[in-house]
Amino acid sequence: MREKTIQMLDIDRQRVFHASTHLKQYACGELPGRIITGASGIRITDSEGAELIDGFAGLYCVNIGYGRLEMAEAIYEQAKQLAYYHTYVGHTNEALVKLSDRIIKMAPEGMSRVYYGMSGSDANETQLKLVWYYNNVRGRPEKKKIISRDRGYHGSSIASGSMTGLPLFHAHFDLPLDRIKHTLAPYYYRREDESLSELDFSQYCADQLETLILAEGPDTVAAMIAEPVLGTGGIVPPPQGYWPAIRKVLDKYDVLLIADEVVCGFGRLGANFGSIHYDMKPDLMTIAKGLTSAYQPLSGVIVGERVWHVLENGTEQWGAIGHGYTYSGHPMGAAAANCNLDIIEREGLVSNAAEVGAYLQQRMADTFTDHPLVGDSRGVGMLHALEFSANKRNSEHFDPNLKVGPQIAAACLEQGLIARAMPHGDILGFAPPLITTRADIDMMIDKAHQAINKVMDRLVTSNQWQPK
Ligand SMILES: Cc1ncc(COP(=O)(O)O)c(C=O)c1O
Repeated sequence: MREKTIQMLDIDRQRVFHASTHLKQYACGELPGRIITGASGIRITDSEGAELIDGFAGLYCVNIGYGRLEMAEAIYEQAKQLAYYHTYVGHTNEALVKLSDRIIKMAPEGMSRVYYGMSGSDANETQLKLVWYYNNVRGRPEKKKIISRDRGYHGSSIASGSMTGLPLFHAHFDLPLDRIKHTLAPYYYRREDESLSELDFSQYCADQLETLILAEGPDTVAAMIAEPVLGTGGIVPPPQGYWPAIRKVLDKYDVLLIADEVVCGFGRLGANFGSIHYDMKPDLMTIAKGLTSAYQPLSGVIVGERVWHVLENGTEQWGAIGHGYTYSGHPMGAAAANCNLDIIEREGLVSNAAEVGAYLQQRMADTFTDHPLVGDSRGVGMLHALEFSANKRNSEHFDPNLKVGPQIAAACLEQGLIARAMPHGDILGFAPPLITTRADIDMMIDKAHQAINKVMDRLVTSNQWQPK
């Protein structure tokens, strides 16, 4: 490693508190660091000159790819004209007006207004407050509980972290909050009763949801929050018939549906939103990531008509709504989002995601369905997961100490490919930028295949595992 990289990483280890990192191992140098210095298209470059194919679009967010000068120029022009003004008490800016109109026109029918934040986590905090306020206005102060799903991911702040259904985000942080409950994940591959068809399993998930609502008391349950496709919890598309079955239960008990579109929104599934792809009919939607392709931090809560009217009535009774961030509706974020949506439209990236996404799914299935290490190969659009299993026939877990998922992600890196070891289980995730071509997909899959074979050989030769 060059002297400069060593020096920079040394300072970094002493000074930077990194997200989702083993703090001690990083501080003492046991965990490697990498300085990212540049990026273009689907590739990033580090300070040592290594070039990596980014098969995860950063954190499933750089949908238009890296290094778009047009984006830099749009942000620069906005900064020159108006870098900031707040959006309190009716103040606005042109970029924001244009953006909000476009978002509502892209969204499923019945959406009304967009409230802006900076991250998916803060947008989901806003969701929770709006739902509580909504039921206070309606004179239903007991109706406050939020149902999320095991393996859901909604952020890592207090409320959003509570809604997240992964133990790592709760344990030792005194979470989840009492008002947040979790129901069964629609994880068909790991269903308890193997005899269930997809449709039956969807109904079983809906029954579990209903049982939970009844146990808590329908008068206490305000909303369900869910990603159209479970993301960080393992990239799990819903089984057939899942969303209609869930929506039916929610309607029966007057429970709102919040679609967390942070990953699926703006084209990842080959439709503008996951809610459209699955016809979820949400009452509220959370957006972030693909809204700006991460060129600026920007998130939003899209509020449907039904909720909006109640919120308006609330302010009739109680005055201005007591919610707002200094950076809500930031013009730099809005300018980036507008330029990002221009690029998505002009280059047909939503249909590219549908077309190349179908190719990704097919190539993955062809390559890995019969692979001895792969228990499940699943995905939709530009999202895919390979789940590794110690016994292909019965989805047995590997000994977690073997760290099969992380070993494979590391082997991919050696091949020059970033694929993500998902945080829960031996699952390798793919979420390439929406500009990815068929040839790029071939290259990614070849690299992943070599990496998986390499780890398999290592497991076999060290007698840690034998194909079953
Ligand atoms: C579905 C979903 N919701 C919310 C979030 C939280 O977003 P952020 O990390 O911007 O707070 C994420 C982040 O990955 C996400 O995947």
